[in-house]
Amino acid sequence: GAAPVITIDGPSGTGKGTIAGLLAAHLGWHLLDSGALYRTLALAARRRDVDLDAGPELGRLAAQVRVQLEGERVRLDGEDVSAAIRTAEAGVDASRVAVHPDVRAALLGWQRDAAVAPGLVADGRDMGSRVFPDALLKIYLDASPEERAQRRYKQLKDKGMDANLRDLVQELRVRDQRDRERSESPLQVPIAGIVVDSTSKSIDEVFLQVRDLAEAAL
Ligand code: C5P
Repeated sequence: GAAPVITIDGPSGTGKGTIAGLLAAHLGWHLLDSGALYRTLALAARRRDVDLDAGPELGRLAAQVRVQLEGERVRLDGEDVSAAIRTAEAGVDASRVAVHPDVRAALLGWQRDAAVAPGLVADGRDMGSRVFPDALLKIYLDASPEERAQRRYKQLKDKGMDANLRDLVQELRVRDQRDRERSESPLQVPIAGIVVDSTSKSIDEVFLQVRDLAEAAL
């Protein structure tokens, strides 16, 4: 599409989603939380007893299900699954379905269609490297593993959900390793990507840095 795109990629728990949301609101642009797509597909697979290792079957499922992303709310075939997809298990399940080329291919057009006027801020793992290689600005948000686990912990607690720090550290490790080592669209700094380290920075500090980069790119 002709609409401008800004991508924010990085491992889990760097604050990508928060920063992407703030930037989209600041610019008045649309927001694509691509992780929510993989999480929702994994949930659909669980519910229909589709094996999370069965790539072609998952690819067909991805083409069948209707996923709607409306701000914080996520719907699967009309049902509000916003809370169900945010558990730690749903994150690990998402990283399992996300390794399959058939799944990634099925979601590619869907994601690209989100790039409509006046613009799109897209966050995920391969937004800059694969989905929107011609993006106006590509941010790669990073942070230390300890800090990322702490943030996830706080995020889940704030939502009133059960969380255990040790489990979260382990969950992030498993997920990051799978995301980095898969052969199809692995997590990596995209070509022309700008690395922003958010370790021991506040959300405001990171946002201001990203906002300045965006304004310089526009
Ligand atoms: O960003 P979030 O933690 O919601 O993503 C969940 C999982 O979905 C990631 O661990 C990753 O395996 C997968 N994902 C992906 N590509 C994206 C976004 C998410 O593979 N663009």
